[in-house]
This record gives sequence, structure tokens and C-alpha cells, in this order.
Amino acid sequence: MVKIAPSILSSDFSRLGEEIKAVEDAGADFIHLDVMDGHFVPNLTIGPGIVSAVKGVTSLPLDVHLMITNPELFLEEFVEAGADYLTVHVEVQPHLHRTVSRIRELGARAGVSLNPSTPAAALQEIVPIVDLVLVMSVNPGFGGQTFIPSSLDKIRTIRGMIDRHGGSALLEVDGGIKADNAGPVRDAGADVLVSGSGVFRTDDYRGNISRIRGES
Ligand code: DX5
Ligand code: ZN
Repeated sequence: MVKIAPSILSSDFSRLGEEIKAVEDAGADFIHLDVMDGHFVPNLTIGPGIVSAVKGVTSLPLDVHLMITNPELFLEEFVEAGADYLTVHVEVQPHLHRTVSRIRELGARAGVSLNPSTPAAALQEIVPIVDLVLVMSVNPGFGGQTFIPSSLDKIRTIRGMIDRHGGSALLEVDGGIKADNAGPVRDAGADVLVSGSGVFRTDDYRGNISRIRGES
């Protein structure tokens, strides 16, 4: 059964604690937090202070997605703030192996993420040692964008890579996933589906989480 990670980017920040409780009660498996620096992506969002505040109100694992140019400078702060999974983008990491190793040394699970234009082959050498691969199915930066259909081929390719290398990495997909288009993403081999607007911009969190999961 796939796991669901609601992205708080589309939540009501003025009631963040309640929003997190609501998705927890509605069956979420992870809380996905999007960290943006206005440089790697054209938007600014949250930092370690919010991650730490979220940690205080949920027992779900925190899945922290760093869309920042120099993630290696902030690994310790995010792990201390409570990140259970800490994911960096391969596009900004000439020394990805070092960064992944450091995240694990700090005691968190290490994720690597690919933009839509980055080929799956960029992960070839790193897949056996990561805990999570995050395939972006929109260009990162904003919630509420449309799923890019060619992502399905990439998901299938990376599913094959993970299975062949005998790694235990979770395959997560992020961007434009909603109840009405999640089926093919699940069928392509995803383990975890991120959804922001497909959960928080609806009036039925439980129903949408369950439909994205494929239960109804
Ligand atoms: C986009 C973020 C996503 C975003 C997903 O840059 O990484 O996590 O919040 O939002 P939806 O599901 O609305 O596309
Ligand atoms: Zn994300």
C-alpha cells in the first residue's frame, strides 16, 4: 500500500498545528515540508524553526524536501529541528555521496531528488545507499501545478533501478498528484505520494488521502 505525504505548502499557515492534526487524523503517513531559498527555486518558504514547531505537534515522520542551493550548510540544523527524512536535489550537489553520508551520520534518512529535466541516470551510483528517491513531477517552486505526464516513464525507470540494485530506498513522487490522477503514479511503482493542493485545498482530507492511496 502506498504511503501519503501531505505537503503543508498548501495548508492554512495561520492554523498550521490544526492542519497537521487534521491530516494526521485523516490517515497521512508522513508530513512533507518544502524548504525553498528563492535561489534554487523562485519562491521562499520555511526554515528549521517551522520544522521544529511541526515536530512538536505530530508523531508522524517529517519528510523535509530541501529546494536550496547549498543544502550541505544546513543539514545539522534540519536534523536537529526534527527531520526524519532529509532530501537534497542532485542538481546542486557535485559531492552528493558526501552529503548523503553526512545526513545518515547525523541520524536522519537521506533522500535525493530529481527535477523533471534531470535524467534518472544521474542516480545510478547513489541509489544503493539512499533511503529515499524523490521524483519531481512538476518544476519545483510552487504548489498547485499540473503533473508532467513524462514523469511516469522516469518513475518506472527508477523503480527498476531500485529493485535491481537491491536497495531499500523508498520511491516518492511530488507535484500535481490528486485523487483523479494518482492511479498511474501508483502503478508506475511509487511507494510514497506527496500531495499538497490535492489534500489541503479540498474540504475532505480523509476522502482525498484515501482516494490518492487507491482505497476508494
Ligand atoms: C513543489 C513542492 C511540492 C508541492 C506539491 O515545489 O515540492 O511538494 O507542495 O504541491 P501540489 O501537490 O499542489 O503540486
Ligand atoms: Zn516537495
